[in-house]
Amino acid sequence: MLSTNTGPSRAEELLFLASQAARKAYAPYSHFRVGAALLCADGEVITGANVENRSFGLTNCAERSAVFAAVSAGKKEFAAIAIACIDSRKPVSPCGACRQVLSEFAGKDFPVYFRGKKEEIVATTLGELFPYDALHELRRE
Ligand code: THU
Repeated sequence: MLSTNTGPSRAEELLFLASQAARKAYAPYSHFRVGAALLCADGEVITGANVENRSFGLTNCAERSAVFAAVSAGKKEFAAIAIACIDSRKPVSPCGACRQVLSEFAGKDFPVYFRGKKEEIVATTLGELFPYDALHELRRE
């Protein structure tokens, strides 16, 4: 369980859990291990890792692994996500497909933290990464 309060310690803790999850990645093709830690509204953290396939297009990113695991466990409300790539010097942001999937369950203020194996941390929001989200625009009408 993790506090759903915002703050730098929460980001660091989630990023630590994401980097632990990255160690479980199945990435024999890219050798690019990514982990995600998804903080659920109830305080539980559900992690995911990238799972590659020899048919490359079937690869699942860490972020989607975490979201699909969480929804499969009955969770649909989320407070934040952290992504850690332990094979990149630079912070790695979610791909377009993962931004779309996150937007299914999270709004524009949803915090997204990401880092590589160095100290640099990016803290942003889903709205920054995925603006002009038609789904949420339509829901407001
Ligand atoms: N990958 C992720 O899991 N998340 C990201 O945010 C970026 C990319 C994975 C997909 C693939 O297994 C590997 O990283 C190289 O693209």
